[in-house]
Amino acid sequence: MILIGRRNLLQLCGRNIFRKGIKQKNPSRGLLWRCCHHGASSQLLHPEMRAFLEDNTEVINRGNLTPEISLRLMTSRCHFWHEKAALWPYGEPYWAFYWPGGQGLARYLLDNPKVVRRKKVLDLGSGCGATAIAAMMSGASQVVANDIDPVAAAATVLNCELNNVNPFPVLTENLIGTELDSWDIIVLGDMFYSEELADSLHPWLKKYAQAPGTQVLIGDPGRPYFVSHRIQKELHRISEYVLPEATAQENNGSTSTVVWHYQP
Ligand SMILES: C[S@@+](CC[C@H](N)C(=O)[O-])C[C@H]1O[C@@H](n2cnc3c(N)ncnc32)[C@H](O)[C@@H]1O
Repeated sequence: MILIGRRNLLQLCGRNIFRKGIKQKNPSRGLLWRCCHHGASSQLLHPEMRAFLEDNTEVINRGNLTPEISLRLMTSRCHFWHEKAALWPYGEPYWAFYWPGGQGLARYLLDNPKVVRRKKVLDLGSGCGATAIAAMMSGASQVVANDIDPVAAAATVLNCELNNVNPFPVLTENLIGTELDSWDIIVLGDMFYSEELADSLHPWLKKYAQAPGTQVLIGDPGRPYFVSHRIQKELHRISEYVLPEATAQENNGSTSTVVWHYQP
């Protein structure tokens, strides 16, 4: 029996079950938003989705690198942690965990606010939204989060509320391979978790990393598809953080996470 708990998601990632990205079991956007999902704000979040997320997550601000950010996450005290994965009504809930890559990036932005102050920031693969929230807290002039899972977008709205941060737009299109607006900073936390994703991100990110005035920052705890990827030759290490015990345990013993500047 496959349970949802974090370790099981990690094992599934390792086996590449999610190569094609998140599959929506129930793609009904009607349950998520009253009208559109661009520029999501708390008023647009459907009450049923709000209730579902509140019932099936716990507010947490410990066991990770950014205790100043509170997040609704799935923990071992939540019903679905112990439930069969097949009973989860949406796509795989990556957003319900705060991954080491995103933790490192968020810590870095909170400790070095000048990196994002008055800058336009895109958080690609934003999950629970913590890195984007850290950018807001550090004075970014514009933040946009992007995650192909609409439930991640809904959870991010709740997490903005929890931290008294104005909700920023959460885009749910797959932006990889598309033409982007110009961004000062693009951040990606724990996004190199499959070979296919790493291979599609690399050439696309290269174009933006080479554009004048755009900085690409990647947070990663040493995932196999990241450390073995040819992108390694073009990375500059910015900062490394020791992971709190709870995060290390949940991540198969990873002990640290690194923030990299992608400089092709
Ligand atoms: C391992 S989680 C990391 C989440 C967050 N950055 C963190 O560090 O906590 C990866 C996230 O990327 C999202 N994702 C996967 N493929 C994507 C794509 N093509 N575009 C945007 N997001 C994607 C998933 O839905 C998931 O929320």
